[in-house]
Amino acid sequence: MAKLLSGKALARGVRRSLKEELAQSSARPPGLAVIMVGDDPASEVYVGSKERACGRTGIRSSIIHLEVDTSEATLLEEIERLNADPEIDGILCQLPVPDHISPARVASAVDPDKDVDGFHPVNVGRLWRGEEGLFPCTPVGMIALLAENGIPIEGKQAVIVGRSNIVGKPLAALLLRGNATVTLCHSRTVDLPGVCRQADILVSAVGRPRFVDRSFVKPGAVLLDVGITRTEDGLAGDFDFDDVEGIAGAITPVPGGIGPLTIAFLLANTVRSWRTRTG
Ligand code: GUN
Repeated sequence: MAKLLSGKALARGVRRSLKEELAQSSARPPGLAVIMVGDDPASEVYVGSKERACGRTGIRSSIIHLEVDTSEATLLEEIERLNADPEIDGILCQLPVPDHISPARVASAVDPDKDVDGFHPVNVGRLWRGEEGLFPCTPVGMIALLAENGIPIEGKQAVIVGRSNIVGKPLAALLLRGNATVTLCHSRTVDLPGVCRQADILVSAVGRPRFVDRSFVKPGAVLLDVGITRTEDGLAGDFDFDDVEGIAGAITPVPGGIGPLTIAFLLANTVRSWRTRTG
C-alpha cells in the first residue's frame, strides 16, 4: 500500500506558522488584493476560500469585484492603483477572466514584487534562471510536500503530464532547480504510459478523472495528483487511485492532497512579499 501524502496536514502547518509569525510582529499586517472579474461560480468559491484563509491567518484581504463587462483598460488601472498602494503586498487576478481581457497583459501589469501568483514574465524568468522570486503557489507547495515527507528530488526521473503555465511548466522548473531530470508531457506525447513508467516522481495535472492507471506507474513511484474533477461518484483525481495505490510508493489523495496547498502557499507568498516590504 502506498504512503498517503497529506497536503491538508502540510497546509495546516504552514498556516499555523504564518499565523504565529504575524501575531508576534509589530508591523502592519500583510495585505492581499484579490481581483475578480465577473461571477464565475467556481471562482466565487475559490475567492471566498482565499478571503477566509487570510482572515484566519492575520492577513488583511481586499476582494475587488468587477463587473463582467469591465474593460481591460479599467482592470489595468485598478492593478496600477494596487501596485502603488504601500499597504498591499500581494495582488492576484482570479482566472479565468472574460474573453475580452488578455490574461497575459493582466499578469504583466502586476508589480513583479507583489505578484503572489508568480505569473509575471519577470518571475517566470527568475524561476527558470534559478534566481529568487515569487513562484506559482501550487508547484511551490508540491515541492514542499515532497520535502516534508523526506522524498528526495535530486537525480530522480520526474515526469509531469500537463504543460500549463500554472502547474506543469513552473513545476518542471522547480524540479529542475532541485536537480531532477524532468520530462514534461502533453497531449501530443507519443507512448505516454511508456514515458510515465520511467518516472520516480510522476505528476498528473490534466483534469481527466482516473486517466492514469497502473500501466503508467513504475513500482514504488511517488504519485502527485493535481487533477480534481467532480464526477457522479464524488471528486476524482487524474490517477485511478484504487488501481495504482497497490503499486505506488506514495500518493496524494483527492481530496486532501495537492488542493489545500494552493491557498496555504498563496498566504506564504503574501507573507514573503510583506517581509521584504516591512523589513
Ligand atoms: N484560477 C485557478 N487557479 C488559479 C490560480 O492559481 N491563480 C489565479 N489567479 N487564478 C486561478
